[in-house]
Amino acid sequence: MITYDEKNQLFHIQTKNTSYCFGFYQGKFLMHYYWGKRLNGPFAVEDFYDFERSGGSMSTSDYEDQYASRDVLPGEFSTFGNTDLRTPAFHVQYPDGSRITELSYESHRIFAGKKPLEGLPATYVEDDSEATSLEVTLADSLTGLKVVLSYTAFEEADAITRSVRVENAGQDTVRLKSVLSALLDFKTADYDMVHLPGSWARERHIERQPLFSGKQIVDSVRGASSGQHNPFFALVSHGATEETGEAYGFSLVYSGNFTAGAEVDAFGKARAFIGINPFDFEYVLEAGMSFQSPEAVLVYSDSGLGKMSRIYHRLYRTRLCRGRFRDMERYVLINNWEATYFNFNEEKIVSIAEKASQVGVELLVLDDGWFGKRNDDTSSLGDWKVNLEKLPGGLNSLVEKVNALGMKFGLWFEPEMVSPDSDCYRAHEDWCIHVKDRIRSQGRHQLMLDLSREDVCEYVLESVSAVLNSADIEYVKWDCNRSMSNIGSAKLDARHQGEFCHRYILGLYRVLEELNRRFPNVLFESCSSGGARFDPGMLYYMPQTWCSDDSDAVERALIQCGTSLCYPYSSMGAHVSAVPNHQVGRVTPIAARGAVAMQGQFGYELDLNRLSDSDIEQVKEQIRFYKKYGEVFHKGDLYRLQLPQDGPVATNEFVSEDKNTVIVVRFVLKATPDPGPDFVRLCGLDEKAVYTEEGTGRQIGGDVLMNAGISLMPKADYMTQIRVFHKNA
Ligand code: DGJ
Repeated sequence: MITYDEKNQLFHIQTKNTSYCFGFYQGKFLMHYYWGKRLNGPFAVEDFYDFERSGGSMSTSDYEDQYASRDVLPGEFSTFGNTDLRTPAFHVQYPDGSRITELSYESHRIFAGKKPLEGLPATYVEDDSEATSLEVTLADSLTGLKVVLSYTAFEEADAITRSVRVENAGQDTVRLKSVLSALLDFKTADYDMVHLPGSWARERHIERQPLFSGKQIVDSVRGASSGQHNPFFALVSHGATEETGEAYGFSLVYSGNFTAGAEVDAFGKARAFIGINPFDFEYVLEAGMSFQSPEAVLVYSDSGLGKMSRIYHRLYRTRLCRGRFRDMERYVLINNWEATYFNFNEEKIVSIAEKASQVGVELLVLDDGWFGKRNDDTSSLGDWKVNLEKLPGGLNSLVEKVNALGMKFGLWFEPEMVSPDSDCYRAHEDWCIHVKDRIRSQGRHQLMLDLSREDVCEYVLESVSAVLNSADIEYVKWDCNRSMSNIGSAKLDARHQGEFCHRYILGLYRVLEELNRRFPNVLFESCSSGGARFDPGMLYYMPQTWCSDDSDAVERALIQCGTSLCYPYSSMGAHVSAVPNHQVGRVTPIAARGAVAMQGQFGYELDLNRLSDSDIEQVKEQIRFYKKYGEVFHKGDLYRLQLPQDGPVATNEFVSEDKNTVIVVRFVLKATPDPGPDFVRLCGLDEKAVYTEEGTGRQIGGDVLMNAGISLMPKADYMTQIRVFHKNA
């Protein structure tokens, strides 16, 4: 529900458990009043701010109240060019060189449902009753620039989205320098910032630090959301745990350069913000043009990080992901990458498929190396024609053989790239990201195609489509193995070069949108050197992302736990790979690798022909278990009972949507001799119900499981224990 209190000039956005309030000071500038637990009582807005002016702050002299210094007022969408000298949400340069924007209220409208964002991924509704939206139009009277702030309250889902559209209704061209998607001020800075830094093969580890005076920012200038930082952070009350304390989540539905963080001012108040990174960003807005910011998704929880995550999980799984595969249990797959790398032929792939089909695997993915002359990573990206030396019968012959085994076939692409050693590059040297006469730095011997160009997007679209039309391909792994550097486009004139990174992402989104339209029956999985582009933007086009190139069970437990702060397990590609692990050399039992991987979108990344008979029996059992319970991992509620970064044990509990099935997966990262029993209390059960444990037939009260807890000891393999409970009818 969204209401407007005219007398107080106050907007009140309510979801099931949350209130978010902002309004206008003297009809002029926007102030943020409140975000937190749902409020129902009447407001006296004067109590939401304090005009006591400190010695250092400046008044806003054009307003009657000399004490109304914006530097101490809580902002909702602060613009540059006034006495609020903290991080602005909006920074524009006008033709006369000035950068001052004074936005005042023009109009607003409240409506049922939610509008899509033009050219950008966003959450959506299936029925207008699911959400209410608000658009507040602000205008700069001097220049005619309009800013439309959009808010949506997902009532049941308990989340609020924000985005911004800038419309140049004036006569002159303006240059946008910063348009953040969300900014708001808290009344204190008594929070910890939780975020997800990482690197290749160790993406999204949880980091938590108390806020300090000044700015603390996580960001990306890599042209992608990146594995170094994720476009997500949370501010949590000191001492907040998984199930207690307050948590405020900020997530950006965008796959390019972003900034996210907080600024703690001299008065001990925190300003939080998230949006496109203003660094190296500029957008030229001619008269009549508009600019749409990405969407920020804000989630408040009064019960710790766990509840915040569960809200994000449900929203992103059901109202961000789209298409045929959104609600489907997806295929158990086998991928040949770590089994063969580039060294394969048809016979080898068919032998991997044969063994996989015998244990219940449903889809074979042929990874890198099937096209052009690619026998290592130095050539052929851009030449999306099958390599007939490796696959003499073409893709079709291989696909038919895989299909004859009762399996589906999937294929790897890296469509955004071009190898200097490729026919594509030789024919179109200006198609890559570059600046004339400057070095074209390579990453993994490759350059990036310039997706800000229509003709290059068209090439990508048509070359991928041609392959997908050439055979029965039912899955695509869409890889992207380098960051952007040496940025420039041969097609953009000097005035528009600053738009490049954003235009690239818009081009990518256009291509992905069209591919989804053309191939609704193909399951797309996003990948980027593992999980370097794991963000909500990509999930809109591809409902799962390869979480990391690191499938070592111990490292994966950390990566998946961090990822789960914002993203559901249903979105995480997770495979069992060979030991010693190819990234860290660690040897873990197959049961441990299986237990960690089967929480995500499950698969294998090894040659099953090389496993012992007893391991193969375990593989069969893992697939049987996963086929039966995958839905609980993916659609159920996640409770992170023990966090891997806190100690040697990671325990996740999943409660099915209907609350009837409970799965507890305990994984020991570091074995301790004679550790003794470890009690964990389960969460989210029906306290009045009785549960039966699968396997033992033990009857245990829901209240017992939740209050007395259960003792968990690793069983057969010293590392893993999986327990399943069913609620008695
Ligand atoms: C990086 C991916 O993350 C891997 O899974 C694999 O597909 C390689 N690229 C292939 O080059």
